[in-house]
Parts: sequence; C-alpha cells; structure tokens
Amino acid sequence: MAEVSTRDGILRLFRKHRDGYLSGEDICRELGVSRTAVWKQIRSLRDLGYRIEGVASQGYRLLETPDRLLAEEIRQGLHTQRIGREVLSLKETGSTNSYLQDLAEKGAEEGLVVFADHQTGGRGRLGRSWASPEGVNLYLSVLLRPALSPMEVAQLTFVSAVAAAQALEDVCGVQPEVKWPNDLLLGGKKVAGLLNEMQAEVDQVHYLVLGIGVNLNMELEQFPPDLRYPATSVKLETGAVVNRTTYARSLLEALDRLYTQYLNQGAKPVLREWEKRCALIGQPVTVTGGTEARGVLLGIDEDGALLVENESGRQRVLSGDVRPQS
Ligand code: BTN
Repeated sequence: MAEVSTRDGILRLFRKHRDGYLSGEDICRELGVSRTAVWKQIRSLRDLGYRIEGVASQGYRLLETPDRLLAEEIRQGLHTQRIGREVLSLKETGSTNSYLQDLAEKGAEEGLVVFADHQTGGRGRLGRSWASPEGVNLYLSVLLRPALSPMEVAQLTFVSAVAAAQALEDVCGVQPEVKWPNDLLLGGKKVAGLLNEMQAEVDQVHYLVLGIGVNLNMELEQFPPDLRYPATSVKLETGAVVNRTTYARSLLEALDRLYTQYLNQGAKPVLREWEKRCALIGQPVTVTGGTEARGVLLGIDEDGALLVENESGRQRVLSGDVRPQS
C-alpha cells in the first residue's frame, strides 16, 4: 500500500505542476520518501503506460496518461467515505464479481472496488453472459458488508441502479430510464445491467457484491449477435465518447452518497429516486416469466417489489419481466 500511495502522490504532484518539470528532490521532499522509492514508482507508472519524460538537470514531466481504466487515475480527486477506500483495476479477469468474492472470502473490507478493462467471463443475471469487450465500457464490483438481513439487502439493487443513472445524467448528459429490477435503458435499449450477489445466513448477510456493467463506448459490432434484448451504448446514442475514468469516479461518488443515505434514512429516498426514472409508472403493464400480472404499474414498495393494480386488487410482483401493454 505504501507503494500505491507514493504512486498516487507522484501523479497528484504531476497534476499540480502541469506545465513544468518536477525534480526528484522535490518529489522526495513533498512525499517524504527516498530517491529510490520515487525512481521505482516512476518506473512502475511507465509500466502502466504513463509517458513520463526524465531530463537530467530538470526532473520528470508527465506527457501522456494511458488509455486504460486505472485505479491510480480513478482515485485522483475521488470524494467518497466508504466506497472506494481501496480501488483495484485489472487489465483482464474472468468476472469482477467472482474476483471480488474471492477477496471478500479472505476478509477484504467494505468499500473495496474492483474494475476490469476486459472480462473474459462477464456474468449477467439468470445465468446469462455479459459482453465485456476490452477498453470501451465499465465493468466493476463493489464490496459491501451491511448489517442487514438478506431480505433488506434486495433494496441495494436500487442504490446501484440510481447511482449508475445519476452518473450517466451528470457525466454524459443523458436521461436513462430504469427498468425493474436491474436494468438501465437509453432510447428504450439496455445500456447497463446490475448483478448483486451475496453470501448470507438466514438472518444475516456476510457480504454483498454489487456488480455493475455500463456500456459506454461500445460499437454496434461489439454486441453479440444472439442478444435477447435490444442493447446500446452511450456513444451509440449520443455520438460522443465518454471518458471512462470521469464516469467511474462519478459513479463511485453517487454510490457512496446513496449508500450512506440508505444506511441513515432507510430505503424510501432511493426508491423514490428510482420511481422518478421509471417511465412505466402509471402505465398499463404486463408481467411475465415470474409472477404473471396485468394492470397499472403503481410503483415499488419498501421491499423493492413491484406493485401492479387491476380491477381484482393490488398485486406484489417479486420477479418477472415487465413490459408496457400493447
Ligand atoms: C444483467 O443485466 O444481466 C447484469 C449484468 C451485470 C454485469 C456486471 S459487469 C461487472 C460485474 N461482473 C460480472 O461478471 N457481472 C457484473
């Protein structure tokens, strides 16, 4: 960890002295580390893809940051209390959820976040796979250890859905819709998916992994041909490339804000935020593939169940696929 904080410190200093050179001596003094430590971390930054010029009489200058999603970059200027106390970024992994579950089993602390530039076995809900091409999107998992029952933990899906939506609004200027229970849509097509997995006993959760996948810059030809639902990316909808680091930071900050609010005030505020983004509320819907229901969608209750009303009364929907009535 000392190495990571020296590395983060060097990047912070580069940003402070944007136009000039930073002498090795100044870095040592500012960070309180040895010359060897600075030299080692400059080398490891270069290995990560940072282009750093070194001039004997003047010092170091940052010329270019790599086009990779790096923990070093995400942590710069990240304002969170719980989420992102530790951030890891992997070039490639099977699934960030599985990777984080392993760390959770070994005792990792709440707030640890794992990003990957590429997933070779990205997992979606209901045993589906999640297309995770390299260098274009966001694939991350967040470790939480809330003192909640497994029933209550279901509400945290809405925390990640609203956080991903708020970050899309703030960074990309788009207005995503939420689709119950785990999807975000742009122009009616899926742009993000959530996969929460927990380890729990009957009345107590050991840990929860919030898995979030957001299609930011994916091109049409990168979507699998056999997708069962219409999907898109922010770039396909707006034509603009999204800076993944900026989006990642904004997402972690939104998650931190909403999770803290959830712990202090309960689920109501986040459920109302979710409902605001659900275009189907007040509309006649059909639910299939779990609970079967037809009626007007009223909203969600405290447990995150969907409320559908028709002439026979009000029905709570716990699983299924919701569509507008045609
Ligand atoms: C879905 O809509 O089916 C859920 C998709 C969740 C994908 C994310 S990407 C990061 C994390 N790691 C995974 O393997 N899956 C989730």
